[in-house]
Amino acid sequence: MMALNQHPQGLTSVLWGMIFFMTIALAQAKDVTHGEFTSNEQKVILSHGPWPMPWSGDPTNKSSGNESAIDLGERLFFDKKMSLKANLACSSCHIPEYNWTDGLKRGVGQAEVPRNTSSMMNLRYQNWFALDGAADSLWSQNIRPMLDSKELASTAAHVARYVRNDPDLACRYENSLNQKAQSQDEASVLVGVGKVIAAFIESLVTDLSPFDAYRNALARSDQSAADLYPKAARRGLKVFLGKGECENCHSGPLFTNGEFKNIGSARLNDGTVPADTGRFDGIHKVLGSQFNLASQYNDDASRRSVERLTQLKVQSHHKGQFKVPSLRNVGYTGPYMHHGELSNLEQVMAFYSATDVNLLRSNTASVVGKPLLLSRAEQDDLVAFLRSLDMERAPSWRGKEYADPPCNLKTVTAPNGYVK
Ligand code: HEC
Ligand code: HEC
Repeated sequence: MMALNQHPQGLTSVLWGMIFFMTIALAQAKDVTHGEFTSNEQKVILSHGPWPMPWSGDPTNKSSGNESAIDLGERLFFDKKMSLKANLACSSCHIPEYNWTDGLKRGVGQAEVPRNTSSMMNLRYQNWFALDGAADSLWSQNIRPMLDSKELASTAAHVARYVRNDPDLACRYENSLNQKAQSQDEASVLVGVGKVIAAFIESLVTDLSPFDAYRNALARSDQSAADLYPKAARRGLKVFLGKGECENCHSGPLFTNGEFKNIGSARLNDGTVPADTGRFDGIHKVLGSQFNLASQYNDDASRRSVERLTQLKVQSHHKGQFKVPSLRNVGYTGPYMHHGELSNLEQVMAFYSATDVNLLRSNTASVVGKPLLLSRAEQDDLVAFLRSLDMERAPSWRGKEYADPPCNLKTVTAPNGYVK
């Protein structure tokens, strides 16, 4: 200390030296924690996992998690005999190789459906179904396409007759639901079929993505694993969490808050499809449905699941709201938005760039005329980030022989909480 006091010059160089080494140490610490993200941003990154989320079955569907039901649901999903003309199955529009959509602007069955086809991935984690939330359970959602004249164009009578009269299917039905299709009325068989198909769809869960690998590496402070995550995806993630305000809605492990929002996507409609009020009509439909959770078909003895329905009230601000979609596997599900007007993610980012920031903050009442304005580089980085939410390869289908192995009646014990 004395020596330093006597030589101010020496003191300065020692101080500079200390600053130099501290800077290096700080830079290293920054690198370890991926300093491009603040500690708050890192918390948000961690909140997008772990994946897959825990899941314990659907209490409203007694066949949920039942292996016979999953197997029967899979058979029926691919079975064209479910349609009256025996020409269409669910899988005609929900094609596994297209991440369970069809690659079209709008689904085409017996005629064009006015909406973009949804994916079947990760639906077990959702409470509301269809882009307008017109169904409050996965099994009741499955009934609409069976009856819709534009989709399978089937009838309850046809579905019931088909399942009752085919001995193999009737046997599988009994194993799945502990009830004979022959002793149920048509509507109940229709619901039963919706439930076994739901059990199958619940088994469809996306694999880990490059983003999950990064998120998990951060969680265990494994820098060399975290470094594998591409720079462009990281820059895009930064925009996603910050300037882009994407996190307001695409949050959590599913990258959706499960809500319905109006982001002004109605302006994309060029008049080729009728105007769509989204959630506004959806609430009318779900409240009026004979298959909603308030009906006798809900298997939840506690009736707790009915609360989400009874709390609903149609209000004018529901007009133009659509379900916030999950962004997992989003690279495989184009075209985008409820009418499928945007053919790729680049166009979606250009749309967001022109979108009023107040809409992105769910403040539909006051559109301030201030678009988000993302630079070309920010849009490209966001696309790189979104692609890191994709599984490495699109899902593929293994195929299943129709009646193989033949069904034997057995006592059914539903395993608790089926997990893929
Ligand atoms: C003609 C094409 C077509 C056929 C056939 C079809 N779907 Fe769909 N599916 C769609 C479209 C389009 C949507 C979006 C509908 C909407 O939001 O109103 C959709 C939505 C869904 C959803 C909601 C997904 C979500 O994210 O909420 C489920 C579940 C579903 N379909 C299951 C089925 C089942 C089960 C079958 C067979 C019984 C089937 N679909 C047959 C086109 C089709
Ligand atoms: C206010 C809520 C909200 C915010 C903020 C938001 N989104 Fe969305 N996002 C939605 C809704 C709702 C849709 C569906 C709109 C429709 O179907 O017309 C959607 C659709 C999408 C789609 C198309 C998915 C598909 O399958 O069609 C992508 C990709 C997307 N958003 C990414 C982003 C990105 C990136 C940001 C940030 C720049 C962002 N979103 C900000 C609510 C939001």
